[in-house]
Amino acid sequence: MELLQAIQERRSVRAFTGQPVSPEQVDSLIQAAVWAPSPLHQQPWSFVVIRSEEAKAKVKQLCRAAKQGVADAGGPEWAHKYSFDFLDQAPVYVAVLFDPNKSGLGPYFNQAHGALQAASAAVQNLMLAATAQGLGSLWLTFFDPKAMALALGASEGLEVAGIIPLGTPAGEVKAPPRKQPKVFIDAYGQ
Ligand SMILES: Cc1cc2nc3c(=O)[nH]c(=O)nc-3n(C[C@H](O)[C@H](O)[C@H](O)COP(=O)(O)O)c2cc1C
Repeated sequence: MELLQAIQERRSVRAFTGQPVSPEQVDSLIQAAVWAPSPLHQQPWSFVVIRSEEAKAKVKQLCRAAKQGVADAGGPEWAHKYSFDFLDQAPVYVAVLFDPNKSGLGPYFNQAHGALQAASAAVQNLMLAATAQGLGSLWLTFFDPKAMALALGASEGLEVAGIIPLGTPAGEVKAPPRKQPKVFIDAYGQ
């Protein structure tokens, strides 16, 4: 698949058929993820492949708790109705973690987010590689990231950039239209 085609055809998939995704497929996606750039090439990411019902149950529980928290705090109506059914359908999830201390030289000049930026690039690589293989994916962050890191058994200090459920999409997902980008020449507003 052409790169631009994969970029444009990647969708946030929230319904899967349940068809299995092999360990080799997941490995190949992680191999794509690690070609992302990172500050000082520190490669701050790590991955947890979540397949067992027991491990999935922990993720689902924290997602549902976050949704309940939004409802209890009077959050937006759509969030009350948000369904995590796709977490029951996806055969596998990949959690992408990062070490915030691996942000290159950034912390010397008020740039603390290098590790998250690198992990985010890794997530996008993984999702594009999934698209190229005909798999659907979702960048899921609807949970308390500290509680999720703990539930995943992550080493002290590691943070979660996202959990990516993967699987065969159940039907087409309409592409949400993009705004015209704001593009200026030489200075913002010009
Ligand atoms: C950092 C990040 C976090 C996101 N978190 C969620 C999430 O928790 N749940 C969800 O359904 N979608 C989530 N999304 C997906 C966005 O809703 C989605 O990308 C956007 O609506 C555009 O749709 P598209 O990805 O199909 O182009 C997230 C996306 C990003 C980049």
